[in-house]
Amino acid sequence: MRKISHRTGRRHPLASVALLVVGLFTTGGAYALFTGTATAESSAVSEAQLDEGKKIFQANCASCHGLNAEGTNAGPSLIGVGALSVEFQVGTGRMPMAGSGPQAEVKPVQFVQEDIDAMAAWVASLAPGPALPEEEMLSGGDASNGAELFRVNCAMCHNVAGAGGALTEGKFAPHLKNIDPVHIYAAMVTGPQNMPVFSDMNLTPEEKRDIIAYLKYMDGNASVGGLDLGALGPVSEGLFIWIFGLGGLIAITVWLTAKSN
Ligand code: HEC
Ligand code: HEC
Repeated sequence: MRKISHRTGRRHPLASVALLVVGLFTTGGAYALFTGTATAESSAVSEAQLDEGKKIFQANCASCHGLNAEGTNAGPSLIGVGALSVEFQVGTGRMPMAGSGPQAEVKPVQFVQEDIDAMAAWVASLAPGPALPEEEMLSGGDASNGAELFRVNCAMCHNVAGAGGALTEGKFAPHLKNIDPVHIYAAMVTGPQNMPVFSDMNLTPEEKRDIIAYLKYMDGNASVGGLDLGALGPVSEGLFIWIFGLGGLIAITVWLTAKSN
């Protein structure tokens, strides 16, 4: 029987199993080889990036934050603040801080993104801290739910329209127009200065995404309520009534008395 089966070209029942095993070993081996070299390569890149980040940091930030980011009298320790805080502070132009003041000013950004990434990676390598978000945490949120959340959590400082407002001691909550989504996310997670930290228990990642969607929606849409008077609230509204309302009354009075004479 066996001879016949050989002659007709039928394979041994174990042949297909053997083929499968060989196939698995070759693809598995090739995969291991490939990913092995890939990880070796990317860790070499990040090693160079860390060195670069440390160099840029020590040249630009160490005067206030210390050579190893341990902090000095002029600036806090950055150990454990994470990559996200560096991206926020440097990516919005707040850092390097220019002189002292109640609050770091927003200035034109002074570093290219590659240098910011390098410094962020180096600071993150000192101790774990909040990392940069995945792309899908920043887009595709529900703007109407975001509007609701914004009114409850953010409007008391930033104003309902996101126009900003004054706080105590010369500090202020800035306007929120045209802020990069990653910086909106970072502000909520890192809580710069007088802004509270919104942890994932206060606002879930989905809720943060909804707030980002709302602020982005506001960027693209002018106010629908007629004149918004800069959306600065009672001050500009009061001024408007004062000048045009009272001014109008006076004009009418003058006109009436002029007529009766
Ligand atoms: C003139 C001093 C000065 C320089 C230079 C400076 N910083 Fe700062 N930095 C401060 C002070 C003061 C604070 C805290 C007050 C604030 O946030 O406004 C701060 C805060 C920070 C924070 C926030 C820390 C936290 O708790 O989340 C980060 C991150 C940071 N700096 C990074 C940098 C980097 C990176 C550079 C260099 C590109 C730099 N700083 C240069 C003074 C400085
Ligand atoms: C207690 C007041 C307060 C509350 C509440 C608050 N913020 Fe802030 N926010 C601030 C202050 C103060 C700053 C400026 C910090 C700085 O310059 O270092 C700020 C900065 C920001 C920035 C950075 C803007 C820029 O110009 O780069 C964003 C974005 C932001 N806040 C979003 C939010 C969102 C979203 C919420 C609600 C989830 C919120 N804030 C709640 C006070 C507040």
